[in-house]
Amino acid sequence: MPPLRRADLDPDPLAQAARWLAEARAAGCDRPQAMALATADAGGRASVRMVFVRALTPAGAHLLTDLESPKARDAAATGRGALAAWWAPLGRQLRLEGTLGRADPATEAALLAGWGREGRRAAWAGRQGAEVAGRPALEAARAAVEGDPPPPPWFGALCLVPDHVEVWQESPDRLHDRFAYRRVAGGWTLTRLAP
Ligand SMILES: Cc1cc2nc3c(=O)[nH]c(=O)nc-3n(C[C@H](O)[C@H](O)[C@H](O)COP(=O)(O)O)c2cc1C
Repeated sequence: MPPLRRADLDPDPLAQAARWLAEARAAGCDRPQAMALATADAGGRASVRMVFVRALTPAGAHLLTDLESPKARDAAATGRGALAAWWAPLGRQLRLEGTLGRADPATEAALLAGWGREGRRAAWAGRQGAEVAGRPALEAARAAVEGDPPPPPWFGALCLVPDHVEVWQESPDRLHDRFAYRRVAGGWTLTRLAP
């Protein structure tokens, strides 16, 4: 991979992120939309988990989740979140930090409409994070869900609207390339950082 230069980067970090995601997919990365989502509760206790970013649009990064899960409660408490992706075959990391809240209704509806049947059936079987007596109980709850159910009403989309985005690309000489976008009035600044 040639070194990353400022001229290679889109001035809009969400367009840049979407481009890198498409390149990761084209390079054969396994589920390149998987990213780590970090949140913290009102007391500052941090947690992180993997999610699938289902849409990277000019508005932000969108995921589907249980709207009363710990991550969604954190988002409601602090209004903030951060995402990170690592695409190993390309040696690239993407980081986004910003506000985390409910997605706009049209995007949420489109994402829920594209959600697969098995995911919807599994979501009806239990609330994210609730204690389960055992795998048989979980399977019984799913078996009770008939046919092709709609998404459960407690599922919806969160959107991370970034105000800070970083792109990082590995260099064989360990002098990696790293750029930070920061949101300012009317646009973005782009700065090269020490890796
Ligand atoms: C690769 C991968 C993708 C995942 N995608 C999602 C997702 O899109 N939405 C989601 O709610 N959980 C997803 N999960 C499960 C979460 O990591 C997590 O277990 C769950 O959301 C509960 O998180 P919380 O209790 O911190 O809210 C995924 C897990 C993995 C390993």
